[in-house]
Amino acid sequence: MPPRNPSLAATGGRENRREDRVTTAPERLLQAFRQYLGALSEPVPSRFLEGLGEPMQARDLALRTLDCLAHLDRIAASAPPESHGLIRLLADHRDQLVWGQTYTAADFGQHFIDNYGWLELIGTRGHFESEEIAAGFLILGPGVHYPDHHHAAEEIYVPLAGEAEWRKGNGSFLRWQPGEVIHHPSNVSHAMRTGSEPLLALYLWRGGPLAQRSVIAPAETEAF
Ligand SMILES: [Fe+2]
Repeated sequence: MPPRNPSLAATGGRENRREDRVTTAPERLLQAFRQYLGALSEPVPSRFLEGLGEPMQARDLALRTLDCLAHLDRIAASAPPESHGLIRLLADHRDQLVWGQTYTAADFGQHFIDNYGWLELIGTRGHFESEEIAAGFLILGPGVHYPDHHHAAEEIYVPLAGEAEWRKGNGSFLRWQPGEVIHHPSNVSHAMRTGSEPLLALYLWRGGPLAQRSVIAPAETEAF
């Protein structure tokens, strides 16, 4: 194998194509996702980051869109500098990604369904394969209440843009700012609600079934 040679960048040679292999929307998003996490001033626990930097196998998935994607432009317009590039990438390539919903209108009503969705970038069913971690994005439109729920996996949320209040266990709803790290331990219930602004948040799951449907109820014993 020939050594790396920057001069190949101008030749269109094979080495150049290898260097430029980040070309698909999910690949570009994964790169930006890693860069954002790496630049956070508040550290994410390292157990959530193990393996995130490794090469990942991409899946060939059928694209799926959602009504809540209409909020991405407003979210991008309000993004702080730290997350603006990541959000712009997400907004610009929204139609080349696979968006999902765990719930139906029977769970939380039609307004919730019309204003809620997630993108699994990494995980057991997302754009990149992992059995150890799930990672992606959550959108909540304005006026949404995501009631108390819990799951076995422990979870990190990092709000990227927009405004929301978060509640953990029996605690009060608290406003968290973009870039702050919110941790939900295993099986501790949590809830979110938005006001007049939509929310975009990054999430990470580990240590439990990565495609588990949340239990929609407060946990029986609350640690908070
Ligand atoms: Fe959760």
